[in-house]
Amino acid sequence: MKHFYWTICLLGFLLNKGTCVKVRYDGDQVLKVTPQTEQQVQYLQDMLIQWRLDLWKPDIVEEIYPGRDVHVHVKNSYLQQMKENLVQQDITFKIMIEDVQKLIDRSSVSRRSTEPITLENYNYNIYHPIEEIYTWMTMIKDKYKNVVSRYTLGHTHENQPIYYFKIGWPSSETKKVVFMDCGIHAREWIAVAYCQWFMREILTKQKSDKLIYKLLNQVDFYVIPVLNVDGYTYTWTTERLWRKNRSPQTGDCFGVDLNRNFDAQWCSVGASTDCDSLIFCGPSAASELETKGVVKLFEQVKSNMLMYLTVHSYGRLILLPYGYKKNQSANHNEMMLAANKAAAKMTEKHGEGYIVGSSSVILYDNSGSSADWAADNNISFAYTFELRDDGEYGFELPDDEIQPTCEETLTAMMTLFEYMNETYLGPFDSGAAVGPLWLKIPLAITICLFYAIPL
Ligand SMILES: *[C@@H]1O[C@H](CO)[C@@H](O)[C@H](O)[C@H]1NC(C)=O
Ligand SMILES: *[C@@H]1O[C@H](CO)[C@@H](O)[C@H](O)[C@H]1NC(C)=O
Ligand SMILES: *[C@@H]1O[C@H](CO)[C@@H](O)[C@H](O)[C@H]1NC(C)=O
Repeated sequence: MKHFYWTICLLGFLLNKGTCVKVRYDGDQVLKVTPQTEQQVQYLQDMLIQWRLDLWKPDIVEEIYPGRDVHVHVKNSYLQQMKENLVQQDITFKIMIEDVQKLIDRSSVSRRSTEPITLENYNYNIYHPIEEIYTWMTMIKDKYKNVVSRYTLGHTHENQPIYYFKIGWPSSETKKVVFMDCGIHAREWIAVAYCQWFMREILTKQKSDKLIYKLLNQVDFYVIPVLNVDGYTYTWTTERLWRKNRSPQTGDCFGVDLNRNFDAQWCSVGASTDCDSLIFCGPSAASELETKGVVKLFEQVKSNMLMYLTVHSYGRLILLPYGYKKNQSANHNEMMLAANKAAAKMTEKHGEGYIVGSSSVILYDNSGSSADWAADNNISFAYTFELRDDGEYGFELPDDEIQPTCEETLTAMMTLFEYMNETYLGPFDSGAAVGPLWLKIPLAITICLFYAIPL
């Protein structure tokens, strides 16, 4: 066992430029702190800044207000002092996560099958390291090549490929576009799990589900299952709670918060120019390879794009633009209408409510997000999904919540697509050909040939 560890370690050392030791969180806790007065807020903010604590909610200390829960990950070594200070200041707090490392260990044991991965045995109810996701991607593109193609969006700083999938039936008509990115933030594993779940759903139900069938005929989906590949990899190899990408910055720090790096009032509010910060916006707008990749693809397809979806955790929210201003987007009311329908359907599914509203109103100010940037580019529907939970496990959502989370999120998105169908897509005649016989016969042959292609 020891040999094995050191071999892995050495390999990690060679491949990872010196990061050998996995960061551990033994005895670390996540506290839910609720300051009640301005004074207490000030005190808490000072302490968080001074100790450089890992803030889970909100993202930035400026967004701490009286009465608002703050989720903060506190290292073991600061814990005693922190609690004493809070008690002394009469600030109420609860322990949200008793031991961060134990929770992490719990979700990574006893579940890995040693069998080689196939599409049939691929387990969508666990989180997968990037190598397995790459394998899955290859199998998906091979098995469903009638309706999906895989392309390279670009390469990361560590030269790992970022893939995207175009999903839809070939068509001579102009199709609408729905764009979706998952895994911008490395530690939000549920987002990556969701993208895989989503793709399986539409691929396996491509003909059996009426809405999906119609969508695939009239819409092309562009899905990026893991945008921040380097960061995601790093959360598996080295630091589970890493958030940013891994591009080296001046002054020995690493990583840019990709959801602060888009050209949407870049770095104006709720973002930091300090490269050590969790919400570092980068040296300039779209400075990062991942961001550049999205922008390039987006430019190619935006003229037909109806919807931009970006998937995150946590908080159970459906967010509308904008994060960088209080103003609403031109399409705000319609976006609210569709999102409220989606949230209602979601609640029916598993009884879990989601809150709908503009980022800056129900969450906090932030600039440079992918959804705001899409809205600035006049995409009619730009939504940010913050999946489960709302503060029990935070970023450590256990495996057994993957399924209900994915099911309810899928329900919500399908509701949005239903709205899109009713309002923006024309009627679709699924082959019950109308018109004269001379038209019907070639059409019938085409359809027969089409269905003869084995799936
Ligand atoms: C799509 O919308 C039309 C109304 O415009 C409706 O008749 C049809 O049933 C919808 N299709 C599906 C599959 O929901
Ligand atoms: C926001 O809305 C206000 C009032 O409608 C308007 O005066 C202002 O120019 C808008 N600001 C931006 C940044 O669009
Ligand atoms: C978005 O639409 C507005 C108003 O129609 C227009 O002024 C602006 O140039 C458009 N922006 C982009 C990026 O196309």
